[in-house]
Amino acid sequence: MSTITIKKLSGEDLFKNIISHSKEYGFIFQSSEIYDGLSAVYDYGQMGAELKKNLRDYWWKAMVQLNENIVGIDAAIFMHPTTWKASGHVDAFSDPLIDNKDSKKRYRADVLIEEHVAKIEAKIEKEVEKAKSRFENFDETMFRSTNPRVVENQKKIDEINARFKAALEEDKLDEVKQIIIDLEITCPVSGTRNWTDVRQFNLMFNTQLGSVSEEASTIYLRPETAQGIFVNFLNVQKTGRMKIPFGIAQTGKAFRNEIVARQFIFRMREFEQMEMQFFVKPGSDLQWYEQWKKTRMAWHNSLGFPESKYRFHDHIKLAHYANAACDIEFEFPFGFKELEGIHSRTDFDLRNHEKFSGKKLQYFDPEDNENYIPYVVETSIGLDRLFLATMSQAYMEEMLEDGSSRVVLKIPPFLAPYKVAVLPLVKKDGLPEKAREIMNQLKLDHLCIYEEKDSIGKRYRRMDAIGTPLCITIDHQSLEDNMVTLRDRDTMQQERVSIDALMQLVEAKVSIRAQLQKLM
Ligand code: GAP
Repeated sequence: MSTITIKKLSGEDLFKNIISHSKEYGFIFQSSEIYDGLSAVYDYGQMGAELKKNLRDYWWKAMVQLNENIVGIDAAIFMHPTTWKASGHVDAFSDPLIDNKDSKKRYRADVLIEEHVAKIEAKIEKEVEKAKSRFENFDETMFRSTNPRVVENQKKIDEINARFKAALEEDKLDEVKQIIIDLEITCPVSGTRNWTDVRQFNLMFNTQLGSVSEEASTIYLRPETAQGIFVNFLNVQKTGRMKIPFGIAQTGKAFRNEIVARQFIFRMREFEQMEMQFFVKPGSDLQWYEQWKKTRMAWHNSLGFPESKYRFHDHIKLAHYANAACDIEFEFPFGFKELEGIHSRTDFDLRNHEKFSGKKLQYFDPEDNENYIPYVVETSIGLDRLFLATMSQAYMEEMLEDGSSRVVLKIPPFLAPYKVAVLPLVKKDGLPEKAREIMNQLKLDHLCIYEEKDSIGKRYRRMDAIGTPLCITIDHQSLEDNMVTLRDRDTMQQERVSIDALMQLVEAKVSIRAQLQKLM
């Protein structure tokens, strides 16, 4: 086997390369690119749409197919406007914004403060890493609690967090501005501290329903899919004869007028969520919250990326509906950031929908012979962020033994857009016909790609670049012995295998079944 060396890339370089690779190979395009694009809106190309679909399917199968007490729905994007009054989004779904008067740039005040804290955290980590490399038998816990610089920086972080949390909880926007001033945070563009006051800005998009403007009423593009589940809670419970605890899952588009919209598909104005609301008996909510934290982390780990890439982050400021909440963060090329949220939402949503609609949204518990409004534990993951996490982990630049290099997407095989490439060595002598025979068998089960142009080496590189786990090459010998070459994307190893064994070999490599078994 040839030696492969992975090229180390800085986070920034890696991110840039992922963005250009995504475009070059048909994964992601800027929306309306011919008109110079639309900020923070993206289109998925032919490769991206497949990867996205496979990620969505894996989530759906893990949540709905494997759990007898979870069912899936597909609610409309438009909802009655009162929905968003009841959910609290009209009054409370906003970001605290601040403008720099010199650069005229607008920022999220909370992000400015969080980025400042992240810089202090980075100093601590640098200090720890330095000490780790210097001392044998290094006691990290002891070091963190005794080293004067670390202790002082940690104290600073705790003070900022406590002050910021209090300001947000009491809705004191003057105090948020004061924190920015006291921390001497400058505008990254102008470099000045010439800030406006902090203001709240609602993130929901609205539009008009109805053809005649006078008759029209304002409706919103949903900012989360969850409310479509809440308003259908009794419909599903009754028609599906669901018994608590049970869950309702849904995937679909959500829209937010993000002000700080950057970092590619990390923060978009139109994105896709995969959410599940788990309805439980009041009092058991926090136990289920802990359970879903574990279950969701196990799902992430099942993708096979290093466990060190994930961590939990408890929310400092709880959303208006939650009594406990955390994020599963992933280490993107630009650092650890939220990938999924797990929220214990109490009975906030159902209770408010009951109040605003005047309709009872209660469950009759046959075991305890009582009616109650269930509590809810929610798991909510952004499909686009999951896509970015997958690309960040899969994208690799490798130096090969012969001095050449390749870019390869080591996407977990069961998620790869194409599972198999079928490649006749030359496009004559009956090889394309033999290749087509194989392709026609395999494509009944898997998305396959047929290519006969260019040298076989070039075709292998192209398949590496789009993450195709297996290549099948048909040569002249194949016509005589019914054997083909099977090439593995990751190891680049090639073996001769019988055409009769292909179906089984491919299935073993790309099966989602084996993957799902890991979760049981
Ligand atoms: N129903 C709860 C809810 O919507 P959230 O933490 O606001 O909670 C859940 O969003 C997930 O949706 C996030 O963890 C993230 O993955 C994704 N998400 C949120 N805003 C996003 C945006 N602007 N662009 C892409 N993904 C986003």
